[in-house]
Amino acid sequence: MDGDILRGKRALITGASSGLGVAFAKDLAARGCNLILVARRDDLLRNVQREISDRYKVEVEIVSMDLSAAESPTALYEQIKKAGRAVDVLVNNAGFGVYGEFKDVSWKKEKEMLDLNMITVTHLTKLFLSDMLDRNFGYILNVASTGAYQATPLYAIYSATKSFVLLFSEALNYELKNTNVKCTVLSPGVTETEFHKVAG
Ligand SMILES: NC(=O)c1ccc[n+]([C@@H]2O[C@H](COP(=O)([O-])OP(=O)(O)OC[C@H]3O[C@@H](n4cnc5c(N)ncnc54)[C@H](OP(=O)(O)O)[C@@H]3O)[C@@H](O)[C@H]2O)c1
Repeated sequence: MDGDILRGKRALITGASSGLGVAFAKDLAARGCNLILVARRDDLLRNVQREISDRYKVEVEIVSMDLSAAESPTALYEQIKKAGRAVDVLVNNAGFGVYGEFKDVSWKKEKEMLDLNMITVTHLTKLFLSDMLDRNFGYILNVASTGAYQATPLYAIYSATKSFVLLFSEALNYELKNTNVKCTVLSPGVTETEFHKVAG
């Protein structure tokens, strides 16, 4: 990506209170991109907001929201539209894993993971893509995992959600080939973040 192309643009990053989301936020801010950061923990979001706006002199807004709730993608989209913001870069990063044998893992946790890792990613992409296509400019980065590439016992459902993200993103990018909107998928390997504590 051309170094200056994101200067003055705006990125929406989900899961930006810790881990990879904070790294994406800093990287985009260093390119002059304004930010909207979303996660549940308001105190951590405020810390990230303060650090990035002080250091990179870009606008950083935060939204504290549980993105696994069915109504959240629409609520977030409408809040951003109402504030008159255009989202040029969407980073669908919020996600989590649940470690353990399928027979033992609680359905409540599993359902929350399916909702956050797949439904929310798909819904946010649908909502913001439409505006990107109207402006014929945009980047979508969906975070999958190396787990997306094979069946992963003890992470059976988590890896399957990431296979969904991988295949959805690749197909979408193909559909976008004649536009100036791109969809990229990132598949990190094991990375030291809060992920492993959350996954148990
Ligand atoms: N670390 C790894 O080894 C690894 C490897 C492959 C892929 N990944 C993927 O990388 C992405 C980022 O994970 P990470 O490693 O950076 O882990 P992390 O440090 O646990 O970060 C996860 C982020 O998602 C947010 N989040 C979780 N549930 C949420 C919800 N219901 N609503 C809103 N935000 C929520 C968390 O914030 P709050 O708790 O404040 O809401 C946090 O900001 C995930 O999609 C993960 O699957 C990680």
